[in-house]
This record gives sequence, structure tokens and C-alpha cells, in this order.
Amino acid sequence: MTDITSLILDDHERFRRAFAELDDLERPDELARVWEPLADLLDRHAAAEEAVFYPELIQRGADAEDETLDAVGDHNDIRDAVAEARRHPAGSAAWHAAVRQARTANSEHMAEEEDDALADFRKHADPGLREELGRKFLAFKAEHEGAKDIDTGDVDPERYVAEQERKAGKKPSGDGSLGIGGLKDSSERGAP
Ligand SMILES: [Fe+2]
Ligand SMILES: [Fe+2]
Repeated sequence: MTDITSLILDDHERFRRAFAELDDLERPDELARVWEPLADLLDRHAAAEEAVFYPELIQRGADAEDETLDAVGDHNDIRDAVAEARRHPAGSAAWHAAVRQARTANSEHMAEEEDDALADFRKHADPGLREELGRKFLAFKAEHEGAKDIDTGDVDPERYVAEQERKAGKKPSGDGSLGIGGLKDSSERGAP
């Protein structure tokens, strides 16, 4: 099984466990041994979601624009905190503060992503697509092992959503909302 929503949950569990593992460590070399692969995975996971998952959510999710805007903004917060931690030696006060910031931002983000974006996608994507995207998600992560060739700079959420909608052939509504989901929303509420 390579259902992308399940693979994303697997990474989320890896994050929770790795952050928890840090709680039990004090020596800088041990902290670094757990943190460095965790930091790489945080960057690779966000980039893989933005490359493989969110472009497809935008095409079919009921509340995809808001979910994607939130997610990309959250990914920026996580990327910023990871980058800040990389500027300091493992175990230093500044490192601990940045890791705490990454953990808090990531925990909040995972809850929203799981309850909103992933749930929305399961309702609107067929099993075959979920499997196909899972294979792409794994391939992206393998290709960028060690977070190489990944741009960890901020991604402008509005620009990202507009770009994905343009690629999907959707027209922005021009009223500030980027314009999808209204019809699906009303049909789901049972409106005539
Ligand atoms: Fe995620
Ligand atoms: Fe995410």
C-alpha cells in the first residue's frame, strides 16, 4: 500500500517520535544524531507535499484553497525554525529554542493537515490516484535524500495556490478568494 495520505501520516509519526527522543538526550553529539535526520525529513516532507500532494488537493478538495494557504504558511514557519536551529550548535540555548519552535509549529500543522487537508483528499480522490501519488511522494523523498536540491526558502502561499490553479486550468475568482469549492460545498450540505 502506498496511499499518499497514509505515507504522510507515517512521516508525521516519525516526527512525533524523533522530537520525543530528543527529550531523553542531553549530550550535544546525541542531540545532533537525532536532530539532523529529523531536520532533513521535515524539509523533505514539506517539499514533497508541495510537489505531489497539494497540487492534487487543489484540483479536487472541497476547501482546498484555504487548506493549502494554511499549509504552505505553516511549512514556512517550520522551515524557518529548522533553518534557525541549523545556525546553532546542537544543545545550545539558541538551538533548543529553535527546535522547540519547529516542534510547536509542526505539531499544530500536523493536526490541521490531518483533520482538514488529508480528510478532504480522502473524500475526493479515488484509491488509484492515492496510490499513484504515494509512489510519487516516495520517489520525491528518495531523490532528495539528505535534503539535497531542496529549496528551503519561504514559498509565498497565495502565489503557490494561484500557480497550482493555473496549472490545473482553474480561473481565480478575482474576489480575493482564489475560487473553487463553492458548488461542492453546497452539494455536500444537501442543497438542491
Ligand atoms: Fe505533513
Ligand atoms: Fe504539511
